[in-house]
Amino acid sequence: MQTARTLEVLRNSLSVLRRDGGRVALVPTMGALHEGHLTLVRRAKEAADQVVASIFVNPRQFGAGEDLDAYPRQLQRDSELLEAEGVALLWAPTPEEVYPQGYATNISVAGVSEGLCGGDRPGHFDGVATVVCKLFNQVMPDMAFFGEKDWQQLAVIRRMARDLDLTRPHVDAIHGVAIVREEDGLAMSSRNAYLSEGQRASAASLPRAMKDAIAVLAEGGQAERPLGNLREVLQVSGFDSVDYAEIRDADSLERLEADNGNARLFVAARIGGTRLIDNMPVSRT
Ligand code: PAJ
Repeated sequence: MQTARTLEVLRNSLSVLRRDGGRVALVPTMGALHEGHLTLVRRAKEAADQVVASIFVNPRQFGAGEDLDAYPRQLQRDSELLEAEGVALLWAPTPEEVYPQGYATNISVAGVSEGLCGGDRPGHFDGVATVVCKLFNQVMPDMAFFGEKDWQQLAVIRRMARDLDLTRPHVDAIHGVAIVREEDGLAMSSRNAYLSEGQRASAASLPRAMKDAIAVLAEGGQAERPLGNLREVLQVSGFDSVDYAEIRDADSLERLEADNGNARLFVAARIGGTRLIDNMPVSRT
């Protein structure tokens, strides 16, 4: 596996990689890799001839007071994991390489960026859209893979690709991969490493409480009561606060008061300083 840390090396390595004319897939990450990330790499390997993975802890998507400095950085370990999965090229630029002195451009996607994580983390999705657009332009992949764990992020990236007429990757070549979970149902996340043993045990109540709420939501009726119950269950189970617990249309992300046949449940909740997110389908169709 080649590792590129500058654009110049990236371009040289990509031209070698493309010599055989195969299809190239990109898997963008912020590192601290777990089975969720590695599943994206495996899906990418199945679909493409060559996989390029990126690791970049993107400062522009972290707000003031968020965990930019604490975010786990383990490039050596991550690079061994990616190599073992058969990744051809690792793109791991420095912040200065991505945002050189005088950098001034921002991409802001209205609508789908609003509410949910966009409401709690102002500017977060601008940072995501900006860096993903740059990664797409840097690597020019034929396809790219993202996790449904960050459903809203995936919606933002697809909207951006459609709106900006991105051809590489084209919007239909932006693939979503189902959430990979721990045995007790907790969605895998690099941030789970922040949890103490007790907090980790409490965290498993998040997917459980979501499933219970969905069982009620799927029967029809207003969402208010099951979502209220969900909040209460989380507080009793050891969560300190719930940022949001909402159902929204899975595609438009418009807020719903009841299942519309295409509804998804979205929750963000905090244990100690750690913010966990999850989402699940409500509608069976
Ligand atoms: P990061 O949190 O490192 O996640 C990288 C990719 O892995 C994202 O597409 C995310 O949705 C996916 N992922 C994480 N946990 C997952 C799980 N349990 N199951 C399935 N997929 C999972 O998301 C980012 O980085 C950044 O915002 C990024 C897109 C790289 C832009 O900086």
